[in-house]
Parts: sequence; C-alpha cells; structure tokens
Amino acid sequence: MPASKSVFVTGATGFVGSHLTFRLLEQGHRVHALARGSKSSARERVHEVLHEVSGSDGSLGALLSRLEVMEGDISQPGLGLSDDVYGKTVSLTDEVWHCAASLSFAEDDREEIFRTNVGSTKNILQFVARTPSRRLQHVSTAYVAGNRPDVAMESDIDVGQSFKNPYEESKCRSELLVADAHRRGIARASVHRPSIVIGDSKTGRVTHFHGVYAFIRGLWSSLERIRRRSATREVIHLPLRVLGSKSGTLNFVPIDYVIDGMLHIASDDSSVGHTYHLSNPQPTPNMLWLPHICRVLGVEGIDLVESSQFAEHPITKMEMLFQKQMSFYYQYLQGEPQFDCRHALEALMGTAIRCPSVTIPFIEKMTGWYVDYLNRRQ
Ligand SMILES: NC(=O)c1ccc[n+]([C@@H]2O[C@H](COP(=O)([O-])OP(=O)(O)OC[C@H]3O[C@@H](n4cnc5c(N)ncnc54)[C@H](OP(=O)(O)O)[C@@H]3O)[C@@H](O)[C@H]2O)c1
Repeated sequence: MPASKSVFVTGATGFVGSHLTFRLLEQGHRVHALARGSKSSARERVHEVLHEVSGSDGSLGALLSRLEVMEGDISQPGLGLSDDVYGKTVSLTDEVWHCAASLSFAEDDREEIFRTNVGSTKNILQFVARTPSRRLQHVSTAYVAGNRPDVAMESDIDVGQSFKNPYEESKCRSELLVADAHRRGIARASVHRPSIVIGDSKTGRVTHFHGVYAFIRGLWSSLERIRRRSATREVIHLPLRVLGSKSGTLNFVPIDYVIDGMLHIASDDSSVGHTYHLSNPQPTPNMLWLPHICRVLGVEGIDLVESSQFAEHPITKMEMLFQKQMSFYYQYLQGEPQFDCRHALEALMGTAIRCPSVTIPFIEKMTGWYVDYLNRRQ
C-alpha cells in the first residue's frame, strides 16, 4: 500500500469520483471530499453514494473515519468554503484529484458547462498552488480529441480540432489551463483521460448511468411501452433506424480499470507533467455492442443507418421519439478518433492492471445487470 496521504477530491458524488474516493479510503489515505448539498447534506450524499459503491458489503463503515466531507461548490471563488476552512484544507492537502465536472452535452447549457468545467479548473488551480506539494491529478476525457478523424496522441491537447459539443470543448479548454499552470510551476500536474466509462469488468455492476446506459434506458423505455400495450414478454420486432456508422466503434473502459490505472499512474512521480489515455486499446465495433445489447433487451430490427436513408424513407414517429431522447449520444455513433494509449500502457506494464476487452459476454453481462436494475425499479 502506498504511504498514507491527505487527498482532496472533487466530484465524490459522481461516478468516477465516488469509485476513486472509495479506493483511496481502501488504500488507507485520508480524504477531504468537496461536494454540494441538495435535498440532503453534502455529507449524506457522499456517504450514500459510497455505500452504493461498496456494494453494501459492510466494508465501508471502517473507512469512513478517514473521510471528511466539506460542503462547497467548485464554480465559486474559494470553492464556496469559508476562508478558515479553505486555508486549513490547503495546508493539509498532499494531493488534489479534480473529478467534478458538468457532463451535459447540451448547447443550451454552454454557459453552465464552461462555468463548471473551465471556471472550476481555475478555482482548483488556485487551491493547488497554495498546497505544499502543488500536486494535481486532473481527470479529463479522451474526447477532448473532438472530431479528429485520425489518431489522438496523449501529448496532444489543442491541435485545431472541432468539437461535437460544449462539454468536449470545455474539457479541452480546462486541460490547456492545467498545462499552462504546470509550465509556470503553479501545479505539478498529471492528466488522466478516460474514454467511455462503463460498469465493473467482473460483475457488470454500475452506480451511475451516463452515456451508453442512457442509450440502453431509451430503448428499454420504448420497449416497455410496447410490451405494456401488447401484453407480451416475447422478443419484439421493432423496425427502428438509428443514425450511426456501421464501421464505427465506441471506446468502452470498465470503471475498475480506470480507477486502478489512474491510481497506479498517479502514485509514480514520473507521471508529473504527463497525460494518459485510460482508454481501451481495442475499441468495440458498433456492430458488436448494438446487436448484443438488443439481444439482451429482447428486440430485433434495430439498424444503424446513414442520414440519406431518412431522405429515401421519412422518419417514423417512433424513430423521431427515440432520436429526440437520445440526440446527444447520436453524435458518438457517427465515429470517434482512435486513442493512442501507449503512455498509459507503459506506465501500467509489470502490474496486473489490464484493460479488459469488451467482448460479447462482457456486453451481455453489463446490459443484463442494467436491465435487471431497470426492471426492479419500475
Ligand atoms: N463517465 C464517463 O464516461 C467519463 C468519461 C471520460 C471522462 N470522464 C470525466 O470524469 C470526471 C467525472 O465524471 P463522472 O462520470 O463521474 O460524472 P458525474 O457522475 O456526472 O459526476 C460529476 C460530479 O461533479 C460534481 N459537480 C458538478 N458541478 C459541481 C459544482 N459546481 N460543485 C461541486 N461539485 C460539482 C457533481 O456533483 P453533484 O452530485 O452535486 O451534481 C458530481 O459529483 C469528469 O471530469 C468527466 O469529464 C467521465
């Protein structure tokens, strides 16, 4: 186990941040988690999500004594903390993990997305600059590569690419801020870029439902409506054309690989000043994951098509509804860059940390877990 550190984490109620916080506590570190309150307090929210992450196996109780939750807001100057608490926390912190972000892709949310993702990175850099070690682990995304048609290298940030949405653009802008702070000696930064994070590789279990889970949920809801109307549990034939590339891929990475990989990379000081793609060396072809998700959902007839298809045969009401529900995720079905992950693989060489291939059994396990979850909750 690495020596115990005092770690400041943002985004501990979120998918990546909660799993990270749990592992940091398991490794024996002390964690100061900055979180927002809503209907319940920040503390209750973080405890609740960590309970989910731990799988209620009773392991959490003993870890909570090393956790302090602080109510704040990363988009506020001083992170929304009092001067006293801010000053004390700064002086106690050995390392900062900045996971919090807005994951909205909506153009209408552009201002909020930039305030959260770019503004908060400025605020976090000010915090980091005052810590004794100035050590920052910045969680970004492989999709800062935007619409690049080629291979995205880990050392590339802004190479003049365009972006699919304000989220990608804001994450690229915040990486530029981190790189600049690193150059000026204000922070000693490593940047971690996961691709599309999915459930645990061993169990398929997941605690938050972004990205492909929203896609599965969209399909599941449409099918449930049909099943209720027709009172059948049989396989449904649903002729639904989905705008997407048959030759495209999606780069899925299980959460356990992302967390173990980032923590191992971060623990080695040679990672200071470098960026790592926590992406899958073998992205999953659209024509592999889609048919197998459909098989688990009990539906056939769903096909990826080019936009010209809709000119030939006008869009149906069902296709329109599905497209509306899924509009942001459609962007990713059109194709993605290839992510060169050489630095990450080299950093993990000699460890047991490997990115599992997202095979047919994996897709079925992951979808099966989520469909059971949705069925239980309805
Ligand atoms: N999930 C993925 O597939 C994926 C892929 C690549 C990269 N990433 C990166 O991983 C990081 C974490 O993503 P995630 O999937 O864990 O997202 P998430 O589940 O949506 O979590 C986002 C977290 O940020 C917090 N947050 C947002 N605005 C805040 C504010 N103003 N003040 C304090 N906290 C705030 C949220 O708190 P509330 O609970 O209060 O909203 C939540 O804890 C992000 O940097 C993201 O870009 C994620």
